[in-house]
Amino acid sequence: MQHGAQAPANTLNVTTLPTFVDTLPLPSVAKPAGMRALASSKTKFPYYRFAARPVEMKIHRDLKPTHFWSFGPSVPGPTLEMRSNEPVLVEWANELPQQHFLPIDYRLHGAEASNPHVRIVSHLHGARVPADSDGYPEDWFVPGKSRLYQYPNQQDAMMLWYHDHAMGINRLNVYAGLFGATFLRDSFEDKLNLPSGAYEIPLMIFDRMITPEGQLYYPVAAKPDEPWIPELFGDAILVNGKLFPYLEVESHKYRLRILNASNARFYHFWMKNGLTFQQIGTDQGLLPAPVPVKRVALAPGERADVVVDFSDCRGEQIVMMNDAFTVMQFRVSASKASDTSSLPKELRPVPKIPESEAVKTRLLTLDEIDNHVGEPVQLLLNNTRWHDPITENPGVNTTEIWSFINPTDDTHPIHLHTVRFQILDRQHYEPWTYLTKKEFLYLGPRVPPEPWEAGWKDTVRADSKMVTRIIVKFDSYPGRYVWHCHILEHEDNEMMRPYEIVKV
Ligand code: C2O
Ligand code: CU
Ligand code: CU
Repeated sequence: MQHGAQAPANTLNVTTLPTFVDTLPLPSVAKPAGMRALASSKTKFPYYRFAARPVEMKIHRDLKPTHFWSFGPSVPGPTLEMRSNEPVLVEWANELPQQHFLPIDYRLHGAEASNPHVRIVSHLHGARVPADSDGYPEDWFVPGKSRLYQYPNQQDAMMLWYHDHAMGINRLNVYAGLFGATFLRDSFEDKLNLPSGAYEIPLMIFDRMITPEGQLYYPVAAKPDEPWIPELFGDAILVNGKLFPYLEVESHKYRLRILNASNARFYHFWMKNGLTFQQIGTDQGLLPAPVPVKRVALAPGERADVVVDFSDCRGEQIVMMNDAFTVMQFRVSASKASDTSSLPKELRPVPKIPESEAVKTRLLTLDEIDNHVGEPVQLLLNNTRWHDPITENPGVNTTEIWSFINPTDDTHPIHLHTVRFQILDRQHYEPWTYLTKKEFLYLGPRVPPEPWEAGWKDTVRADSKMVTRIIVKFDSYPGRYVWHCHILEHEDNEMMRPYEIVKV
């Protein structure tokens, strides 16, 4: 049992359900609703409208339809397909009811009872966008309202994802289903001839707790007026909205685009037959070369781009696991398939940013505030709260090193909006010495990033009792953005800070 959370006495034990009785759903691809110009110019861009509405969706053959909120007919919402340097406009609309169906904690900043209960704001995770299109957590809007955002797409091919970011209730809105995949493609990637079309499959993975009636359950802490829990872990691991789905595949290479869309769960996916994944990309696009891995590791918010070759597994039924949990099954056809796709030995070069380019190093602690029985009551970044004055204010196009100093027992996945970065290293340190003397007593060498995370990232694991260093060039638009822990329960309870990219 997680600390503070009430025992989920009334949830369904999903291991009692039969496995592999539903096919894996693939979200529909969004179609533009025409062309539109922004007020400031005459140029027209493809225009999309994404409306958040209540939906009922079957997550398993033997369960009644589950109530969700989504930007489309099912969860995840429709996939947004875009190309580099081709801007698009998206109108995000709130067509939800006036009441939330998950437990709001009115003590959290931004979620006060005086605020409307149903508020949304959409963020495109991974996108380099003008600040007024980034989905600032306080720019939420109520049922009946919408916002028009522009995505300039001046960045490399990658998998992004859109999700809610409303202050103080983000964990509930995402849990309710307000997210979906986005793919940015470019001609460099096209030329690699990676598996595509029917051979490219998005796998959006999110865990939920389910009631015996088949409905979403979000647990609350023991005290009724203090419902916030420090982390949500569900035993129902959904892939594209289904529990234990199966996918029929040919004996061919497949490109799997995996996203961890969970509130708090970290995943380690592996194939029961020992099949190797060739990891070809991370959050912000392609790696320099494929990295063979037996386990794909993903923290909340992270993405993995992998190629799996089923050609030696004809007729097999392969189960993909997460640690000890069953996730899904691949049913490989018995017949031979001709495969003209490639897995090149070299992908996209990722030139290392030299440390000497950094004009500043920021030391930033990740802090947990506990009550007298050792339960977390709040999580902070650098001991500051959301409404404290802005302290991170890099200049446009300057490079900085951010050192995340993590004295807590948890790994925190730290995400910066609107920029991409590289991981420099992680190093064990002695928290007490740092806390009392502000001196580093290192307990081991600097460990370089794992080969599969040594590309362009936007979310990084800041491991427990380690100092994690990243190097970031703030080559985005000037304005106010956020950085935060992507464990949504932490983010909603002060583990998020505004930062400002300033004109220099
Ligand atoms: Cu996935 Cu602030 O974002
Ligand atoms: Cu983001
Ligand atoms: Cu955290």
